[in-house]
Amino acid sequence: MTDETTLPSVIVIASPKGGSGKTITTILLACEFAATGHTVKIIDADPQGSVSRWFKTSRELGFTLNGISVEPVITDNPMFQQTKIAEVIAASRGTDVVLIDVQGTAQGAMGAGLQKADLVLIPARPHLFDINQAAELCRYLSASSGTVPYRIMINALSELSRKSPAFATALETIKREKLPCLNTTLSERPTFANVATAGNLYEAKPLTKPIENARANTRRLLTEIISLLNEEAAAA
Ligand SMILES: Nc1ncnc2c1ncn2[C@@H]1O[C@H](COP(=O)(O)OP(=O)(O)OP(=O)(O)O)[C@@H](O)[C@H]1O
Ligand SMILES: [Mg+2]
Repeated sequence: MTDETTLPSVIVIASPKGGSGKTITTILLACEFAATGHTVKIIDADPQGSVSRWFKTSRELGFTLNGISVEPVITDNPMFQQTKIAEVIAASRGTDVVLIDVQGTAQGAMGAGLQKADLVLIPARPHLFDINQAAELCRYLSASSGTVPYRIMINALSELSRKSPAFATALETIKREKLPCLNTTLSERPTFANVATAGNLYEAKPLTKPIENARANTRRLLTEIISLLNEEAAAA
């Protein structure tokens, strides 16, 4: 756990592609970090305010969401937003993890989060369009920062999409362009969509098989991310 003088690990969840799963990934990861005893601050940097809405609705429905706080950082001016994000991160000493949910196309708005990021996570659905957009962001990150680690995370994979030519083409592109991907994928699950509306996987009752499966999926994601963060910390 982080003591009061230590800066948090910062994970930016970003993709220029709308609907790729940035917000759902942010929410699932926050809940998973919290369920394993970490304190989490989510910076909601998307004017759509989806994470803030999720947090408010969940609380109203009686979910405690212990360990999680949400801070909206929305301004018209990307420069002010970058400054404010940097300030929120600096003020988050003692918090274990800061997750930043970034607006789809606003690369400018990612700036401050990016400079401070320990990891940029790029959700992409299993189609070439998503992978192409994710590849754009990889090139941008590589050119602009050069040092911030980033990983594409395939999201909303289903039995059907796994066998589809669209996914095969996407995988070829990933291989050809040597795009760094997480080993863990997030499956397409109604349970995830429910959580993105309100709640989490840990206060839901009764504990059904779909919830258990969903938890196993997000736990694998968390384990891989923690080991990546640890590797980077060891290499620094
Ligand atoms: N793995 C998944 N399983 C089920 N539903 C999913 C999954 N991933 C995303 N969705 C659903 O797809 C929609 C888009 O996801 P989400 O809002 O997370 O994308 P986004 O990248 O944040 O979009 P935007 O660019 O608009 O901010 C949501 O309704 C969400 O519930
Ligand atoms: Mg979103």
